[in-house]
Amino acid sequence: MAFLIAQLIVAYLLGSISGSLVLGHLRGVDIRTQGSGNAGGTNALRVAGWRFALGVVAIDVGKGALAAWLGGLSVAGLDQPAWWSSPLLAPCACAFAAVLGHCWPVYFGFRGGKGAGTAFGALLVMAPLLAGIMFTVWLAVIAAFRYVGFATVLGALAFPVGLWLLDRSGHAFPPALAAFALAIAALILFTHRANLRRMVRGEEPRIGRAARSP
Ligand code: G3P
Repeated sequence: MAFLIAQLIVAYLLGSISGSLVLGHLRGVDIRTQGSGNAGGTNALRVAGWRFALGVVAIDVGKGALAAWLGGLSVAGLDQPAWWSSPLLAPCACAFAAVLGHCWPVYFGFRGGKGAGTAFGALLVMAPLLAGIMFTVWLAVIAAFRYVGFATVLGALAFPVGLWLLDRSGHAFPPALAAFALAIAALILFTHRANLRRMVRGEEPRIGRAARSP
């Protein structure tokens, strides 16, 4: 049991390493004070350009993948309850802990990003086909509307929907992944509530145009 708790804590601490806040700190900038105010890749692009944003995305996606991998670890001699070894349960739980760390990072006053990149990184490790579907939806919505927040919400909703459709067409997914899909879709809706409100008011900036404050 102690190992299980240690895995979740390490995953949360890993998720708390926010790409934009760490790289921003090195450059002497806190992107939470600029653009949309979000500590994520999109705002990094607005505020500091594509090179900076690329580094941010690499860290945020990478730590999600690392957390899912960490969940799959078992160490000889360290006991874990049998239920913890249910298919994908531990990787999903660790991935979710990392996403929570990204959104509410212990090192940065619990003010982080919106969780999409980290969840995507974890999904790349656990279910690459679903990750591909989400990425395709995300890209298509950006190409059509140029609202990244809206694209992220639809991409996140495509996770449980895609899983359900694939499941019906013969791909078997474990219940843990379905629970993770629903939890991530709900969390992304929650963290993007300001984006959705701005969209309704016609104030959400499109990618490539100047951002307004939240
Ligand atoms: O994942 C964040 C993105 O979907 C929206 O970012 O800065 O427009 O709120 P932002």
